[in-house]
Amino acid sequence: MQSVSQLQRLKNIQQKISMVTCYDYWSAQLVAASPMDCLLVGDSLAVVMHGYSSTVHATLDLMLPHVAAVARGAGSKLVVADMPFMTASGDLRSGVAAATALIQAGAHAVKIEGAGHQVALIAHLVEAGIPVVGHLGLTPQSVLQLGGHRVQAKNEAAADRLFADAAKVEAAGVGALVLECVPAPVAAKVSSDLKIPVIGIGAGAGVDGQVLVLQDLLGANLGFEPKFLRKYADLSSSIGNALDRYHQDVQSGAFPARCESYA
Ligand code: KIV
Repeated sequence: MQSVSQLQRLKNIQQKISMVTCYDYWSAQLVAASPMDCLLVGDSLAVVMHGYSSTVHATLDLMLPHVAAVARGAGSKLVVADMPFMTASGDLRSGVAAATALIQAGAHAVKIEGAGHQVALIAHLVEAGIPVVGHLGLTPQSVLQLGGHRVQAKNEAAADRLFADAAKVEAAGVGALVLECVPAPVAAKVSSDLKIPVIGIGAGAGVDGQVLVLQDLLGANLGFEPKFLRKYADLSSSIGNALDRYHQDVQSGAFPARCESYA
């Protein structure tokens, strides 16, 4: 049975955790066939898959078909799904309803950004049997308040607030924590202070694992070039090249050949 406790076991034996954000059945199948530890259906799908300017546009209705599609393709892998914008910041009842819908769509855990109002919901969900992953540092759902996608916890006071928030969500029961865009030494301290695994994105190498968006690491997200990203492929060029050749072959009549036609 897939469980966030698998990630705890990896931290305990000091094995780094690999997590990848993916959004559909097709890519989930590719990840399922890889050694990756865990899949995240991130609310970044609003931007990457639907062309919105930020994750505040990810509604539950937008997320659910993606969660269900990834769950169908993920095989035996652990699937975590993002609680969409504002679903974890209001009343407990609507938070529980959103988490229930994500779990019933096939997620094994939900991820919640923040350590304010969200803490009560985290404790409530964990108590009710829904595993929760926290998300601190740059929390993209607060982009309007943060004034952009900026590195967080850059001074001592902000780092101290992050340490306190991390302790708070751990005490509330999260099984793991995603830490986004914070200085590497700050992230490393969070990872060593907490018992739970800390999975970083733009948080340096001193944490317990890494998460990247599939399209980003494959070089398939045109124009997205943050400092923290390493591209393991150049899919944009490969796809562009394939489409060019297909178009030329159609125009010249070289496709389809006799062997690609029915007699
Ligand atoms: O939405 C997402 O893909 C995420 C990861 C980048 C951590 O939250």
